Amino acid sequence: MKAQVLVIFGGTGDLAMRKLLPALYQNHREGALADGMRIVGVGREGFDRNAYLAKVCDALRQFVPVDDFDDAHWAIFSSRLDFVQLDALISSDYERLADTLRVQGRPARIFYLATPSELFIPICAELNRAGLVSVTSKVVLEKPLGHDLISARHINREVGTIFSENQIYRIDHYLGKETVQNLFALRFGNGLFERLWNRDGIRDVQITIAEQVGVEGRGAFYERTGAMRDMVQNHLLQLLCILAMEPPLSLEADAVRDENLKVLRSLKPLGRDEVVRQTVRGQYTAGQMHGAPVAGYLDEPDIHTDSRTETFVALKVELNNWRWAGVPFCLCTGKRLQSRVAEIVVNFRDVPHSVFGVPATDTRGNRLVIRLQPDESLKLYLMTKAPGDEMTVRPVSLNLEFATAFSTSRRDAYERLLLDVIRGRLTLFMRGDELDAAWQWIDPVIQAWHEQDHPEPYAAGSAGPDAALALVGQGHVASCDA
Ligand code: BG6
Repeated sequence: MKAQVLVIFGGTGDLAMRKLLPALYQNHREGALADGMRIVGVGREGFDRNAYLAKVCDALRQFVPVDDFDDAHWAIFSSRLDFVQLDALISSDYERLADTLRVQGRPARIFYLATPSELFIPICAELNRAGLVSVTSKVVLEKPLGHDLISARHINREVGTIFSENQIYRIDHYLGKETVQNLFALRFGNGLFERLWNRDGIRDVQITIAEQVGVEGRGAFYERTGAMRDMVQNHLLQLLCILAMEPPLSLEADAVRDENLKVLRSLKPLGRDEVVRQTVRGQYTAGQMHGAPVAGYLDEPDIHTDSRTETFVALKVELNNWRWAGVPFCLCTGKRLQSRVAEIVVNFRDVPHSVFGVPATDTRGNRLVIRLQPDESLKLYLMTKAPGDEMTVRPVSLNLEFATAFSTSRRDAYERLLLDVIRGRLTLFMRGDELDAAWQWIDPVIQAWHEQDHPEPYAAGSAGPDAALALVGQGHVASCDA
């Protein structure tokens, strides 16, 4: 493979320090980066190379597991690193970047834009003007891509005049999670489920990403974004796609992305009335977590005193297609909730008549629970006879815990996705038309919310607004282990 250089815009930012550089370090440690691979951090700060290395070293010590960081690997990893001071909006600054890249010869270039999406178009235009883009270049765009349909289309169009579609990697780190990829294995590696995987076999599906963290010092970003754009537009809709898609012809990028697109296009639009009936948005107020008081959203730094930004969303959605018509998919996500859990619960239809004298509707049996994090597992709950004289049935799970089933360690999502970019594998990245379809569905919901009052309050550390419980049921916080 041609030698490559990875240029990270936002190279001193939070994402680079917490995720990207630790992931690259781990890839380096495992021998997954070619010897000639170089990494250039780009940022506005007036660092020289040594100051940048010191910052990266600190970040690695903090964010790489303690046993994985050692001086020998750092010495070689750091020799791959460079820093260029650059203001993304100042054309002449790109000369400095061009000089640095020229010194490195003519390797293929990957530009990772870990910046707000408002900068995507100017950065791409400047890179092009400086003669830094060629047919071997790639560009990685961090989510959220745009703020609404219009801005997303603008980005797609303008970036598309400089990079062709197969040079653009729209990253959604949820797709890099090992357990998310396991959904493909579950659905398309086991004939067992396919017969049931439709409106006849499945009563409803719940997809939940509950977080305990608040806005983590990202108030200014979050205030403009909210849970719908931050989590639903990308992570939750992508999970929905994998669960609901038709079997693709292969795992080739476009085979998978064509099927994702069909799911997104089959999302039943939510008009004003449905938004009232089928959605709940919430905002956390002060509460208790881990026994300590935590501030409400309105008291976080950089938040408007009268903010209506949602920190919680629950949605009941349907897909207009033969496989899924009439099956509710409940999507739910929120910050400052009582537990941290990302989970998919597939509730199969109940038996038509119970011969055991218990109600046929026992919501705890007949379900598949896929825990994405933490403690990744797959549990199939079956009704089973409890030992004893009486014929008493209760749900018991067949339990696959990934940590015990496989002794090898799993790659972190960014490690995996960065390697995919380096290797040119597009399957786990959104195509432009998918992004467009997701925004087309999301936009009217956000617009309808603008006409509503404040989001429902919920106390930090709780299960979210009561109205959400009524809408999507218990499944939105954590599965109840039998
Ligand atoms: C990011 C969001 O995309 O995903 C954050 O911007 C969120 O607000 C994070 O906290 C959750 O990711 P994970 O992998 O920790 O579940």
